[in-house]
Amino acid sequence: MITINEKTFALSTRETTLLLRVNEIGKVVCDHYGRRLEHDDLALAAVPDGVTTGRTIVYDEKQSEKLALPSIHGEYSTPFKGDDYSPSLEIVSDKGRLYDFVFVSALSRPLEKMEGYPTPHGEAEELILLCRDEKMGAELELHYAVFEDCDVIGKFVLVRNVGEKPFTLRRVYSSQFCLEDQGYVLHASYGSWAGEFQRAETPIGHFRYELGSDSGSSSDQHNPFFMVRRDDASLRTGAVYGFNLIYSGSHRIVVEKDAFGLIRIQQGISPRGLEKTLAPGDTFLTPMAVLTYTHNGLNGISKHMHAFVNDHVIPTRFARVPRPIAFNNWEGTYMKFNEAKLHSLAKKAKDLGCELFVLDDGWFGHRDADNSSLGDWDVYKKKLPHGIEGISKYVRKLGLKFGLWFEPEMASPDSHLLEQHPDWVIQDGIHEPSLGRHQLVLDLTKKEVRDYLFDALSNHLSTGCIDFVKWDYNRTICDIPNSGSFLHDYILGLYDLVGRLTKAFPDVLFENCASGGARNDLGMFSYFPQGWVSDDTDSFERAKMQLEMSFGYPQSVMSNHVSAKTNHQMLRKTGFGTKFDVAAIGVLGYEMDISELDSIEEKAIKSQIEFYKKHRETLQFGIYRILDTFEHGHGRLIVEVADANKALVTYVNYVQTPHPGNETLPMAGLDPEATYAYSVRPEYHSLKTFGSLINQVSPVHIKEEGVLVNVLSRFRGLDAEGLKGEAKGCTLNAGALQIGRQWAGTGYDDSTRILLDFGARIYVFEKK
Ligand code: DGJ
Repeated sequence: MITINEKTFALSTRETTLLLRVNEIGKVVCDHYGRRLEHDDLALAAVPDGVTTGRTIVYDEKQSEKLALPSIHGEYSTPFKGDDYSPSLEIVSDKGRLYDFVFVSALSRPLEKMEGYPTPHGEAEELILLCRDEKMGAELELHYAVFEDCDVIGKFVLVRNVGEKPFTLRRVYSSQFCLEDQGYVLHASYGSWAGEFQRAETPIGHFRYELGSDSGSSSDQHNPFFMVRRDDASLRTGAVYGFNLIYSGSHRIVVEKDAFGLIRIQQGISPRGLEKTLAPGDTFLTPMAVLTYTHNGLNGISKHMHAFVNDHVIPTRFARVPRPIAFNNWEGTYMKFNEAKLHSLAKKAKDLGCELFVLDDGWFGHRDADNSSLGDWDVYKKKLPHGIEGISKYVRKLGLKFGLWFEPEMASPDSHLLEQHPDWVIQDGIHEPSLGRHQLVLDLTKKEVRDYLFDALSNHLSTGCIDFVKWDYNRTICDIPNSGSFLHDYILGLYDLVGRLTKAFPDVLFENCASGGARNDLGMFSYFPQGWVSDDTDSFERAKMQLEMSFGYPQSVMSNHVSAKTNHQMLRKTGFGTKFDVAAIGVLGYEMDISELDSIEEKAIKSQIEFYKKHRETLQFGIYRILDTFEHGHGRLIVEVADANKALVTYVNYVQTPHPGNETLPMAGLDPEATYAYSVRPEYHSLKTFGSLINQVSPVHIKEEGVLVNVLSRFRGLDAEGLKGEAKGCTLNAGALQIGRQWAGTGYDDSTRILLDFGARIYVFEKK
């Protein structure tokens, strides 16, 4: 709800209020952003405007003797008028560099489509505060979108040249937000290929922190999602602010604390990716920044952000629609496959219970390695003599959906495309463009390139034989041409292309991928409903990444696959049970040579898939809560996903300790009055788990890693511990459920949990 009262503006959601005011010198300031305020009390929240001290510049002594720009809670700062902290807007022109905007008028309306950008859908009101620098001929509109149902405020700005000469934008952030320090911690993520979403935390000191990416994509270096939390906030309690940006290109996050403890937080397009000249009459619109606040700790942020993404970002036709269980051939075959191999994998995938068969990289041009054919999107007949239609027909006849991998934004130097159009790649025309994964990036700012790609993909999609597209993007951008806004224009070109394709083929489910998770952002999720989290398919590494990603993104966008027991990225050995227990918190898939499974593994995977189908809605869309983390607990991560009728809990072990204690599950949010049936998902131990210890129970001697144990373990395993019972929600919420000690060398019985290093379990709680 937006309430305009002369020069104060209250933007309220169910649990929060953002209170804005125009102060004596015509600047828009933020008096409060936090818990919802009662409207009668709004005046109380007005922050006294800062006092000038010592050498501070007084903005205008005639209007106020004490008002100085650096000390107000300004909503959008510009430089050279006494505020030397990080500016949100920098403009240069023949006239000068001092642009000083003051409030002119306000209006509210339903949120309108943001030209060129993905715009969140669903109900939202918008407040627009028009500010102007009359002398410089420039206008600034501060836009605020209120998503009441999920406690989210969207912020973006529009700059307009209302003068007679052009001017150039050197920096134009989407949002600035000021906060008085009460002991805050910056919580963001850093990462790299196969190591996305690593936690980065620091108490906010008297520094300027600048995070983000300059590589042309939102990146795995620093995702645009981050949090600022009170240092006493925990998983379940305390004040936390969450931030994101609906943008897929280079971006910047700035957090700066001044000497008086005023923290300024900015989000937007990276200035390195944007220098834009506006002719008279031209406008520039920024992407939308996303802000939320909760006093319910980090889990409260997940709750708001998940609802926002599921209900306002994901294309409506896929919102809360269950996602299929995929089989993907990548780690099973890489590029070494032929039709017969794919047929046998598809048959097995169907038999196991998968619902979608995805043919990954290597099906086009003459692609046998990653150094050729990108750009030539015609089928590689040597591998697939019956074409894409042939393999799709086979797969669909089995009763599976068919998916296909593309990397549309790229071209290999060894391709017909680049033979014909060498000028279509990104290059500065002076230097030889550098390769990344042996490939170049196509210039999506050119309409003819976008049209070519639209046609190339449409040729396949219009046959109607493709249900799913995995859209990959495997390098960063460099060698940019001489245009200050090239990186930004590239992203607008990308949005134009994916917008056209998803509109033309509305039933095709697109999966977002960028060498794993290098472009998992709200811009891409506005077109593609799910994203591949990382090329690291090791379940322990994935558990950590999923945990970090989960604060800002719901399970429905996180695509996770169970892969080979010896993980290809870490060479860590982990059982399929554990891999499933982690991958199941999200959109499940399998990615390995499933023709090599032994009968016991096959049985186990079938039961995993049955289990997933039964609980899919909860696992993909349930409310997500972290109950314990590696840091706070005993080397364990416990995650709960729940809806009105059930809760599923994944428990991930760190490394074995010689002195495991009794353990309970610290449940949260179960209906206190209801009775729940609880159980652990049945798992088994391979005979090989026990090494030579197996001889303590075996009638014949078994040599560790010998032929006998190898043969036997293909057919027999030992049941893992059981757990079954009933209890009231209040009892379980009190953390009373004992789940058994872990193996400690002796004293094995039916309840002993043998999790091994990095092992996992799933517990189920169903309302009776
Ligand atoms: C990177 C992706 O993240 C992988 O899953 C796979 O599709 C490869 N590219 C194929 O080249």
